[in-house]
Amino acid sequence: MEIDLDRLQAFEDQLNPAAPDQGTVPVQILGYGEISAVFRIESMPDIAFKRLPPFPSPQQRTAYQNVIETYIHTLRQQLDVDVVASQCVTIDNRDGEYILYVAQPILPAGTVGNQFLRRASAAEYEAFWRELLRHLFRIWRKNAADGPGELIGIDAQVSNWAVKADGHKITLQYFDITTPFLRHFGKEMLNPEIFLKAVPSFLVWLVRWAFLQDVLDRYYDLRSVLIDCLANLYKEKLAERLPIALRIVNDVLQTEARDLGIKPISEQELRKYYKEDAFIWTIFLAFRRLDRFLKTRLLGKKYQFILPGPIER
Ligand SMILES: Nc1ncnc2c1ncn2[C@@H]1O[C@H](COP(=O)(O)OP(=O)(O)OP(=O)(O)O)[C@@H](O)[C@H]1O
Ligand SMILES: [Mg+2]
Repeated sequence: MEIDLDRLQAFEDQLNPAAPDQGTVPVQILGYGEISAVFRIESMPDIAFKRLPPFPSPQQRTAYQNVIETYIHTLRQQLDVDVVASQCVTIDNRDGEYILYVAQPILPAGTVGNQFLRRASAAEYEAFWRELLRHLFRIWRKNAADGPGELIGIDAQVSNWAVKADGHKITLQYFDITTPFLRHFGKEMLNPEIFLKAVPSFLVWLVRWAFLQDVLDRYYDLRSVLIDCLANLYKEKLAERLPIALRIVNDVLQTEARDLGIKPISEQELRKYYKEDAFIWTIFLAFRRLDRFLKTRLLGKKYQFILPGPIER
């Protein structure tokens, strides 16, 4: 990966997070997350740049970068999860903000899990789920052995994996490493306050009190991770193929993964979860847009976060 730091600096310096595609540097937006936004800058077309929201100090940025690097190292070395090449780049922008980018090679079109599954044959579809489960079981068997001293969590949604298909053989590469879930004796290694930075100030107390711990806990609990991953198929327009995935998951939970002691998952549970989840995020996004409006239009301030446009469900 050849990163042209001057160009990245120039991009960052002209970036208006309230309107990321309307600057002077041509850019394509590849994805929006709760935390990061993913860009392809025209002059470096082979690289995906994930931009994290500004950090309050260089020290906090370094700390966050260290957790990302430890997370990648743990996945690769201890869990045999292939992680897409990822390089952290720090930039101080002209407004004096401390920015962190994670650069990755652009994945070939059609290889991100959600795209792949839409066109997969029945055999490929099944192989994908078996491979995904194999990775997750390895993670949770390690957690059973090493917890609570060291726990690792993961957001296993299908849009976080790149797929390589070779006949019926499917291999997966993980790439969503900008939110590294690592806990030592119950203490989150990443500073969860970074999540709160994106929350409108009038909601911080509510989110801290009602959701934050809950949302983080979800990624350390295998059953919750599976429910989140399966329910996300509704959003990904893969609902038609959901019953097959669910059958595979339940089947494997009762056979190969019996030792993990996880109760089967029902379709009803998935529908209920999806409805609640969609509701919470829709409300939350509406509040963030309101917050952006207040800051930029009424107060004339810079709004630091990049919000998605309308979300298709
Ligand atoms: N290396 C890449 N090449 C091509 N597209 C990518 C790449 N990385 C991410 N994307 C696109 O951007 C989307 C979001 O990326 P990713 O999952 O890494 O971050 P996120 O979900 O926004 O993360 P978070 O909310 O954890 O910060 C992906 O689903 C994919 O469509
Ligand atoms: Mg993601």
